[in-house]
Amino acid sequence: MASSRRGFHFLIPLLVLILTLHLSESQNQGSVGCKIPPEFHGDWYSREGDAGANIYTLINEDKWDRSDEDSYLTCYQRHNHSSYGIRQDGNNFTMLMREVSSSGDQTAACFFCIDVLWRTPNILQYRRQDCVRANSGVSINITQSCKAMNPIYGLPTTDDSVTLFRRTPKIVNCITTFEGVYQFSYEVDEGGGGICNNPNSQIKACQDPGSPYVDNQVFRMTYQKCETVSTSKNEQIRYQCMGTWFAVRSGIGYTYAAVADTVEKDDREKYKCLMTLKNQKDAKNQIRWVMSRFPDCTSLNSIYNGPLKLVLTRIPPPTDFMIPKCNLPRNISGEWFTQGQEYKSNVRVNETHINFNTAINEFEFQDAHYSCQQTLGTRYLMTKVVVGKCEVDFVCFDIMPRHHSIVRYRVGKPNRLTQEEMENPDYLTKKFREACSWMSFTFNRDDTDWKYEVLILNPPSPIPCPIGGRYNFNQLATRENEKYQTRIRGVTDKPRVQVDCRIIVSEIKSCTNDLSKIFLDAEYCETVDYRGRPIGEYDVSDHELTCVGFWMEDYKSYLITWDEEDAISDFRCWVYERLSWTDVVMSRAQNARCNRAQTAKDYQIPGTGLVLEMLEAERLFDDCPQRFDSGINPYTLPNTIWVLNSSALTKPSFIVMIILMCLAVFRRH
Ligand SMILES: *[C@@H]1O[C@H](CO)[C@@H](O)[C@H](O)[C@H]1NC(C)=O
Ligand SMILES: *[C@@H]1O[C@H](CO)[C@@H](O)[C@H](O)[C@H]1NC(C)=O
Ligand SMILES: *[C@@H]1O[C@H](CO)[C@@H](O)[C@H](O)[C@H]1NC(C)=O
Ligand SMILES: *[C@@H]1O[C@H](CO)[C@@H](O)[C@H](O)[C@H]1NC(C)=O
Ligand SMILES: *[C@@H]1O[C@H](CO)[C@@H](O)[C@H](O)[C@H]1NC(C)=O
Ligand SMILES: *[C@@H]1O[C@H](CO)[C@@H](O)[C@H](O)[C@H]1NC(C)=O
Repeated sequence: MASSRRGFHFLIPLLVLILTLHLSESQNQGSVGCKIPPEFHGDWYSREGDAGANIYTLINEDKWDRSDEDSYLTCYQRHNHSSYGIRQDGNNFTMLMREVSSSGDQTAACFFCIDVLWRTPNILQYRRQDCVRANSGVSINITQSCKAMNPIYGLPTTDDSVTLFRRTPKIVNCITTFEGVYQFSYEVDEGGGGICNNPNSQIKACQDPGSPYVDNQVFRMTYQKCETVSTSKNEQIRYQCMGTWFAVRSGIGYTYAAVADTVEKDDREKYKCLMTLKNQKDAKNQIRWVMSRFPDCTSLNSIYNGPLKLVLTRIPPPTDFMIPKCNLPRNISGEWFTQGQEYKSNVRVNETHINFNTAINEFEFQDAHYSCQQTLGTRYLMTKVVVGKCEVDFVCFDIMPRHHSIVRYRVGKPNRLTQEEMENPDYLTKKFREACSWMSFTFNRDDTDWKYEVLILNPPSPIPCPIGGRYNFNQLATRENEKYQTRIRGVTDKPRVQVDCRIIVSEIKSCTNDLSKIFLDAEYCETVDYRGRPIGEYDVSDHELTCVGFWMEDYKSYLITWDEEDAISDFRCWVYERLSWTDVVMSRAQNARCNRAQTAKDYQIPGTGLVLEMLEAERLFDDCPQRFDSGINPYTLPNTIWVLNSSALTKPSFIVMIILMCLAVFRRH
């Protein structure tokens, strides 16, 4: 008894093994039928044939059943086209299918090759070949009968396949199709109506605040009529997204999308196919789409050629929160420039609004609008919207009083208004406390060593430079092209005097004739004539930097200069330091933003590249007294008292200054 039971136990694994072998054989080689892959199962709609008949196809493991045919198809052999590399939720298959007529007659059965492209969970595209029959002696075999198995033909394209739309779409996110707020113009390809560009024709693809879904799966498209365009209409449609995919058409890779009208009952009108090109690089930041009239994708020829042509323009989300409730400091109104971590922005400020226009690349830019809502001291609670985005955020600006052509500011963490908060009549005060707490300016609790962002008036108004005098300099640079080079600028007033120059030095100076400029000459002829006057005095300096503003922060002195002829950046940030009475050292940043770690001696850390080591070198006739301002109080009016010698090391009292001034005047005479 025991032994027979043991024998039985021994048999079970064997049976299982045999069964598994048998099953896997039938799966892979399909000699006795196969299963239709699960990603194709469902209830599908397609519009087929020249007459555009509505076809409903039911697919499950065992059959592919079309509404317009009595018979159905079963899987006979199948081939998985996916290679291991590509990771998608579905796979492309070629299936050799056998027709099963309702009468059950199998003798003259047709075989069809069906190639299925899995596009999204809601979209399949397939091609069906004509019927093949088993001739006497020749057996039907997927490798021989099906075109797609031959690499010369391969899988079908969008043009020679039929698109299947899932009748109860699975939820997919709209983010890959549309995200944000757009105005659009539209043109219907038939009837010769023309383009309707109504500002109220809008697409809103935002997460519904009240929606139970985390992601937006629908978007709203509002058509507005144009009086002069007969094909235009007033209509609002809610489309459910059915997913996007990428496909090549006439050598160009397009992004396709499918959508379903959420309320339309007529299937011919319900489903649409759309097509666009990613990275259109349009100068106006517009995006072109084409949309099909009927549920098919073959009519979309290019982004300029399709049944319905759409041109989308990003717009700010419609909101009441952009109505200003307070005023910004009056003297910061104007046009500004700022250099961010990555991108630079043009900033426009008026009494109530701040607008940041940031170039992302040559063709794309981002527009952010801020509106003043509440203020206390230097802190301003602002609402923020970004053109083309749905969100409305509250952010806090901490704006230092303006000095020179500079406004320094910090921006706090963005904060969103929730539905409940909005019901509180006092929500602004509450938001202010949240968004404008000093904590909100430190993104990282441990990183209290923040630095202010800098707005630079553009074009700037010059101010006296904090460093004056005449110096020789030495350049330290990581790359040769960072250094100031000799060049012939413009046209010299008088012809260059042909002189024999024996002493050539590098010269940097900011003298009494123009206090707001620093002149730089990498090679300056210092030879003097018999009177002791420089012989190269008619030369125009190679480089001319205009001082825009300076200040001290974290015990470091910063200077912003402007040079229109600088090929890298008009504005440059410098960190400067006086080492002794005769030595000044300056580190130049690659653009208008100084690296936080940058000191006056850095030229090798990221964002820097050049250090000037300057040694005082005033000559008898230069009229170029030394001056230096560390920027410790940038709000003082420009100081025109020159520091003549070390007696002025300690801050001179007013009387001392007057005395010094008198002395200076005396000396001249
Ligand atoms: C189909 O035919 C080819 C060549 O005649 C053969 O190599 C292949 O094994 C056959 N496939 C099946 C599934 O029978
Ligand atoms: C299916 O075929 C299409 C078109 O050839 C291709 O773009 C896609 O990557 C394929 N999918 C998989 C999973 O291989
Ligand atoms: C098809 O092939 C891919 C890649 O090899 C694999 O991940 C997938 O499971 C296969 N699908 C089926 C139904 O065999
Ligand atoms: C400030 O600019 C905004 C747009 O950025 C504009 O809507 C508003 O009318 C302007 N306000 C004034 C006072 O000019
Ligand atoms: C700008 O106005 C502020 C006060 O609002 C003042 O402290 C600051 O000195 C002014 N700056 C300039 C350059 O006028
Ligand atoms: C500074 O200049 C004043 C006036 O020219 C002179 O009296 C004084 O000795 C000078 N001090 C030094 C340290 O050179």
